[in-house]
Amino acid sequence: MAQEKNEKAVLDAFKGVQANGPAVDASKKVRVGIIGCGWIADAHMTSYLKQPDVEIVAGADLVPGKAAAFFAKYADKVDVSGIKCDYPSHKEMIADKSLKLDCVSICTYNRTHAVCAIDALNAGINVLLEKPMCVTLDEAVEICRAEKKSGKVLSIGFQPRFDPNMQMIGKVCRSGELGKIYYIQTGGGRRQGIPFPYGTSFIEDKTAGLGALGDIGCYSLDCVLNAIGYPKPLTVSGYKSAYFGTSKEYAGYVNSGHTDYADKFGVDDFAAAFIRLEGGIILDFRIAWAMHLDSPGDTIIMGTKGSLRVPATECWNGSFDKPMKLYKNVAGQDVVTEIPLVPGSVGLFERKIRTFLDASKNGGKSPVPSSQIIYNQAIIDGIARSADAGREVEIHVPEI
Ligand SMILES: NC(=O)c1ccc[n+]([C@@H]2O[C@H](COP(=O)([O-])OP(=O)(O)OC[C@H]3O[C@@H](n4cnc5c(N)ncnc54)[C@H](O)[C@@H]3O)[C@@H](O)[C@H]2O)c1
Repeated sequence: MAQEKNEKAVLDAFKGVQANGPAVDASKKVRVGIIGCGWIADAHMTSYLKQPDVEIVAGADLVPGKAAAFFAKYADKVDVSGIKCDYPSHKEMIADKSLKLDCVSICTYNRTHAVCAIDALNAGINVLLEKPMCVTLDEAVEICRAEKKSGKVLSIGFQPRFDPNMQMIGKVCRSGELGKIYYIQTGGGRRQGIPFPYGTSFIEDKTAGLGALGDIGCYSLDCVLNAIGYPKPLTVSGYKSAYFGTSKEYAGYVNSGHTDYADKFGVDDFAAAFIRLEGGIILDFRIAWAMHLDSPGDTIIMGTKGSLRVPATECWNGSFDKPMKLYKNVAGQDVVTEIPLVPGSVGLFERKIRTFLDASKNGGKSPVPSSQIIYNQAIIDGIARSADAGREVEIHVPEI
């Protein structure tokens, strides 16, 4: 029940107003396909249906009949009879030249992000790839190389970037009010939030590859790294554990009758790391799908002239709901200023879809570029490697 409530809250956050922005030229239709017709594909489909210039032409899923059943749910909103969806995997859909695909949304589990993105880019199709970008840094490098070769748009599904409050963190950092930034603490988590909304694709290693670290850790890293211009990561000392996910006594399993999931759990449910970034900045990070604690703490950004406190959230996949605080010393007096919440934290998912479509149509820059997210993936990869090795590791991101 708690699990269902969680899912509804997440999907509700994706409803909302039409994305703001210039009028859309509906005379040129964008032909879109959806790869992976599971949980998050619904948020993509719902957002695409609100765009006047989109024609959904195809869908693919590894599970026979799943894509057809997915589109059938929308039959009361749109004519789904022409949507082709009898492909055994993304490969056959991408190879079907009759579709004349302009764009695909990749909504598969993490382990198949890389192969789907590379195949689509190699076929000359613009790609909106769900987060996390993939599982390993090597995969991210291959994706970026395919993107470069193709000249197509690749955007990664970080909708919080379109939130005005998230953007305010970056505005404060860039304003100079903090002086030189030298230390950042970020993270988040839930007491009982291991996600298994429609099965085990988030918790099995063969499908997810990463647990809390990839699922919500990528958001919390992006929240601060995007604000400070994505400096290059240099080294990381990382830790991960899975005490809750592997326990049949985990309350989330017990309450939902899924204690058998403990045997399937093959990823992390907690991760922490100490990361050195270029420019002498330290990033202290922790993320949890489950813990005996309300929150692992606020996000703080400390600088030589001021510091910023951003109230903690469970997973950073939307906005935050309390004002940020700016700490300074003015004329010898310590002062704290509340930065009021900025209105407009709605329709983030639609903005992610719309900005991707605009870039694809007009040959513009990617709204969430891989050149930044590759550093996010490099940190995640470094945390996993360091945790396995039990020591600090270096991070090397090759030239693309
Ligand atoms: N942006 C967000 O807010 C948000 C929210 C939830 C999930 N996600 C991300 O979306 C992704 C999918 O999550 P989900 O909950 O929808 O998973 P899911 O398991 O419900 O759905 C994934 C689907 O992809 C299909 N699939 C896998 N490989 C495929 C391939 N090669 N070709 C065709 N189909 C393939 C699977 O059969 C499955 O039906 C994850 O990476 C997750 O992190 C993002």
